[in-house]
Amino acid sequence: MSASAAVAQQEISLQSFDIRPLAGAPLGAEVLGIDVGRPLSGGDFDRLHQAYLDYGLLIFRDQHLTPAQHIAFSRLWGDLLVHVLHQFQLPGHPEIFVISNIVENGRPVGLADAGKFWHSDLSYVSPPSLGAILYAQELPQEGGDTLFASQQQAYDTLPGVLQRRLEGLRAVHSYTSRYAEEPEVFKGVVRPVLSEAQLAKVESVVHPVVRHHPETGRKGLFVNANFTTHIVDLPDEESRQLLDELFEHSVRPEFIYRHRWQENDLLFWDNRSLIHLATGTPKQFRRRLHRTTIAGEAAV
Ligand code: SIN
Repeated sequence: MSASAAVAQQEISLQSFDIRPLAGAPLGAEVLGIDVGRPLSGGDFDRLHQAYLDYGLLIFRDQHLTPAQHIAFSRLWGDLLVHVLHQFQLPGHPEIFVISNIVENGRPVGLADAGKFWHSDLSYVSPPSLGAILYAQELPQEGGDTLFASQQQAYDTLPGVLQRRLEGLRAVHSYTSRYAEEPEVFKGVVRPVLSEAQLAKVESVVHPVVRHHPETGRKGLFVNANFTTHIVDLPDEESRQLLDELFEHSVRPEFIYRHRWQENDLLFWDNRSLIHLATGTPKQFRRRLHRTTIAGEAAV
């Protein structure tokens, strides 16, 4: 936490808000009655922080934030990472990455296919991110849900023999891992072609296959179908088989919460313990969300 940002302000009054764990879901809690655009007292920050660690996903309802307030709230949790696709940064606010299927004057205003494979945001950088804060701007009448899956529950439910096999294994994560597969998406139709300078910013990185959460110590799987390409030091076929087995296990229905977005929702999730997936939006409906991504620490 950037304790100084929130806690130093003793004079800031506590807000009266509820934290309600999602009934019947394996993760997530709603936070009702708070305005995260106001400066937070240390006490309020501590409650939110503990809930974030306990539930992995906080759903703040009915938020009315300017981009600067979205960024200020995000900065309470750490430094912010700027996405490599500068084409989709919010003008004047590079910390905000626009996710959208809207095309204006022939140009996409945001990345339309963000999150279409299971992933932890920016697992392709080192250190990987702590979390992300996604804010609804315009929602479709149908579709556009986001799924979240607990990777700590996924790890806990692996057979012991597989848990032992994963000990000490490391895997490669690459931003461009899907580029070869979907030329129509990645040759500039949906995603801009990466310049040399952008490619240099997203060279492959290596993380452990199982990571300890830096704050709770809990173990979780840390591989994902979007960015993880192979396991270091394993023959290709064995690596493929093992990753496919882990990918399948990691998204069993009992680990998943499906978020159906409501107007003015702001979601804050933990990329160290969850993966997520955008389910997609029918072409005739507009969807736009603004995301900030918070820097984390090395995965160990
Ligand atoms: C993301 O991966 O951050 C996008 C999630 C979404 O669009 O629902």
